[in-house]
Amino acid sequence: MSIKSALANVTQDHVRTGRAASFAFDVPSIGTITCTRVFRAIRGKRIVCLGEIGGNEVVVKLYFDPRRAKIHWQRSDRGCRVFVECSLTAPKILFSGYLSEHDLYVMVFEYIENAVRFDTALADAPDEAQRQQLLDQLMACLARQHEQGIVQNDVHMGNFLLQGKEIYSLDGDQVRIYLHPLSKRPSLANLAAFLSYFSPIHDAAIAEHYQAYCSVRGWHVTGGDTQKLIGIVKRMRKRHLATYMRKIFRSRDPFLVCKAPDYFSVRDRRVWNDEFTLVCENPERFISDTNGQQLDSNHCCHLSIDAVPITLYSVRVFGNRLFRRHGIISRRWRNALRLNRLGIHTPRPIALIEKRENSRIWRAFLIVKSCDGILARDFFASDSVSDDDKDSVTERIAKVFLAMKQTGIAVRGVHSTNILISDLEPIFLDVVQLNQAAFFSRSSVAKGVLEFLQGWDNDSDVNMLFRKKFKQLNLI
Ligand SMILES: Nc1ncnc2c1ncn2[C@@H]1O[C@H](COP(=O)(O)OP(=O)(O)O)[C@@H](O)[C@H]1O
Ligand SMILES: [Mg+2]
Repeated sequence: MSIKSALANVTQDHVRTGRAASFAFDVPSIGTITCTRVFRAIRGKRIVCLGEIGGNEVVVKLYFDPRRAKIHWQRSDRGCRVFVECSLTAPKILFSGYLSEHDLYVMVFEYIENAVRFDTALADAPDEAQRQQLLDQLMACLARQHEQGIVQNDVHMGNFLLQGKEIYSLDGDQVRIYLHPLSKRPSLANLAAFLSYFSPIHDAAIAEHYQAYCSVRGWHVTGGDTQKLIGIVKRMRKRHLATYMRKIFRSRDPFLVCKAPDYFSVRDRRVWNDEFTLVCENPERFISDTNGQQLDSNHCCHLSIDAVPITLYSVRVFGNRLFRRHGIISRRWRNALRLNRLGIHTPRPIALIEKRENSRIWRAFLIVKSCDGILARDFFASDSVSDDDKDSVTERIAKVFLAMKQTGIAVRGVHSTNILISDLEPIFLDVVQLNQAAFFSRSSVAKGVLEFLQGWDNDSDVNMLFRKKFKQLNLI
């Protein structure tokens, strides 16, 4: 089998499941490289994988788009060379060129051992101070790039690796080079592009990140620039979110749509296994087979698929596709994905299924992964929880409301019984009423906050504590 046909079968599923690619090819002056673990696969265009040459590991990037392979390779080659030539910390290039024998463009890099993607490093940071320090370090890295006139236009966390204390810049595909240091405007735009991937919950820290950046560039920090940066971050984040939300009923990695005249489903491929597939094909059988479980008044029941606890919602919907998209199940699917995307904890949605029951009636199902924790009501009523913990949880909940407000989302109907506290983090359960207003309305946010406060006994300490936090954040 030729390498090209082997490459045609490599997909993101290899990345998810850890399945190895297995083909080998000769590279001049290096030797035979055997490709194994896949880091990334874009079908029909390129893959990035681990390679082995006589016991040594390398990273291989193959370009094989039928028409644009050469252009893709040239762009990447130029970008990666710039990183190395400007003495930025980046993987060494061991080979870069065309293999006529296989009609492939290839780049071979030094493998950075024991390195983690920057987002993983941040998630693993033991506390806020360490997180801040890592981010400041990344800001310094971006400042050095900009100082040398380099702009990484694909500036997300997967393009930075952390090894020990070093940050490696990867991926030259979308790098542009100027002959002079980057001026303020494009610098802020590039910083904002990076910061817009973070949850709005962390927006308060942007000012500090910008300070870290300016100290490397030798710039004086002004409040105006900081505000400008925060403004661009918010606009970019809204744009990313809108693009993402437009595609949530379509096949797009990691989601896959299955459609038939009487059936529609969209499922998360990361939880793919035979049992999950069976459940998606026939959810009503699954409910009745599992100890004759009944749906409760919320149309919901708790079950497990292959030992993974899940929550399943099911309701009947009338009419056509348009009606179904406005139904409660579609709304839950949409809202859960929106919150997850914004880094606000809510049970992860894994499938939406619709089956026709008769000519006018469909039955819709939503499956989300269940979360562990205790209800906010019980958490605050408990004597065994310290006042400090209660204080920090109120602050986190208030920050989530603020983050939603800043993203133009008004959340309604949140009560003490639909927030779960897990490891002092609030998880918003069952968010049905979430409005993303085209024009932001302050009053609808305030209404949501007041509704939430009403859920607590009016003069209780908890109510006072929440009021204080909401006031501090200007929410009421
Ligand atoms: N030199 C390297 N050492 C270790 N891991 C690497 C190296 N280069 C790439 N990777 C891994 O492969 C992933 C994709 O690489 P990247 O060059 O960003 O490809 P793409 O252009 O598809 O985004 C990175 O996020 C990283 O996890
Ligand atoms: Mg990349």
